Amino acid sequence: MSESRIQCAALRSKIMSADEAAALITSGVNVGMSGFTGSGYPKAVPSALARRIVAANTAGGKFRIGVWTGASTAPELDGALAQVDGIEMRLPYQSDPHCRERINAGEMEYIDIHLSHVAQFVWFGFLGKLDVAVVEVAGILEDGRLVPSSSVGNNKTWLEQADKVILEVNSWQSSQLEGMHDIYYGTQLPPHRQPIPLLRPSDRIGEPYLRCDPDKVVAVVETHAPDRNSAFTAPDATSRRIAGHILEFLQHEVKKGRLPPDLLPLQSGVGNIANAVMAGLNEGPFDNLTAYTEVLQDGMLDMLRSGKLACASATAFSLSNGALAELNADLERYRERIILRPQEISNHPEVIRRLGVIAMNGLIEADIYGNVNSTHVMGSKIMNGIGGSGDFARNAYLSIFMTPSQAKGGALSCIVPMVTHVDHTEHDVQVLVTEQGLADLRGLSPRQRARVVIENCAHPDFRPALRDYFRRAMEGAPGKHTPHLLGEVFDWHLRALRGEGM
Ligand code: COA
Repeated sequence: MSESRIQCAALRSKIMSADEAAALITSGVNVGMSGFTGSGYPKAVPSALARRIVAANTAGGKFRIGVWTGASTAPELDGALAQVDGIEMRLPYQSDPHCRERINAGEMEYIDIHLSHVAQFVWFGFLGKLDVAVVEVAGILEDGRLVPSSSVGNNKTWLEQADKVILEVNSWQSSQLEGMHDIYYGTQLPPHRQPIPLLRPSDRIGEPYLRCDPDKVVAVVETHAPDRNSAFTAPDATSRRIAGHILEFLQHEVKKGRLPPDLLPLQSGVGNIANAVMAGLNEGPFDNLTAYTEVLQDGMLDMLRSGKLACASATAFSLSNGALAELNADLERYRERIILRPQEISNHPEVIRRLGVIAMNGLIEADIYGNVNSTHVMGSKIMNGIGGSGDFARNAYLSIFMTPSQAKGGALSCIVPMVTHVDHTEHDVQVLVTEQGLADLRGLSPRQRARVVIENCAHPDFRPALRDYFRRAMEGAPGKHTPHLLGEVFDWHLRALRGEGM
């Protein structure tokens, strides 16, 4: 491990082991950790903290902390702390199986908030006091400024707001990351807010380093450990068909003059389908594209390599091992065209609205009127969280939601009479896409929307039952604007809960 990663003498004197650093965190505090979609999270201190929690609890204590992050992290952070029941309160987005289990068992509080809201909620004081920050960085400059790691997330806010700072300096992260980030320090609190001067996804409006008061740093821990990089499944027939419908739609919009030939900045959600859409765009007719998004997945890296994508702005990488190796081997070349920003800027409603982003996000279920549930299974069990989908969907130029038409091997329809939880209302969903087809909901009333959602998006196995429900709702509902039969609207889910399929 090279000492040159820590050039600041004052901070070099604070180097200690992860166990020693974890001993500086006490029960009951709120800890802001770095990390976003499996990149740039602290690799050593959370596990050391989990060991400390086990020891404290074995001795009869109840050691628990609040964990705030950028978004999802990894088994070494969320997994390790959830397994030892060490998290009292978690926010925002998570996707860890142990966390999910604790949350759904009622053993962990979870606040699922829009990713763009987190930093400002902390500044507003809405979430209480942030006591400690544990932030991974790629290096420390002589004057104490920090070279950010493979994600930025909420690190700027954690470093500013926490009383104590613990830094993990990860020499596994490429030193070539230096210069890729754009940390904007111009955000103010109302009523003193100014416009964010970002006019194009490629604009750099801040500085490449994170500021940090060296006096607040209580520990520096050296690590050499990889990010959690998960492989994407190769696009299958379903995701290719979804991608095909979206491409055809975008071409139609260009023809109609509603989109320029190089489209507008793209936002692509998390997961395999989003990745497959990028693969489709990489083979598609559009050139000189840009991305103003939250995570940069394999598909976007492929597009940067092929030249289809001119530049990408995000807050984090979320790459497979292969894609990461390729990125690191050629970081010098990619650095100019990739910008990582704080998530309050990558997801900022003002900027998303100004740039006219094309938002594409996944969902769990959608209803015939266009309401979308992205987060809950059967109304009460959290899957992951809303992430940035709400930031983008509400403020986008075009808000597209996509899903296979069925889940669980065809037992469940992803198009239902009424969603069991609403993340995106009918007012924020303009286009719904499944492998069956695309429903353009713009300019349609609820009854008109129901017809196109059922005919274009539902799986043929479920279409007759949806038609039947809608027809009877039209006849029997007391109001004909958004007709529903309240006595049976959740019968589909109740049957599924009884194990009978929908
Ligand atoms: N009913 C019950 N379960 C369903 C379902 C439905 N209608 N539709 C999907 N699921 C389950 C799947 O079976 C799968 O469960 P499993 O892991 O136990 O097999 C899980 O939900 C994920 O579905 P999958 O088909 O693999 O989709 P995905 O990887 O594209 O994820 C979301 C879909 C909605 C979970 C994901 O996009 C998400 O978390 N979105 C919210 C955050 C977001 O949009 N962020 C992007 C902003 S930048």
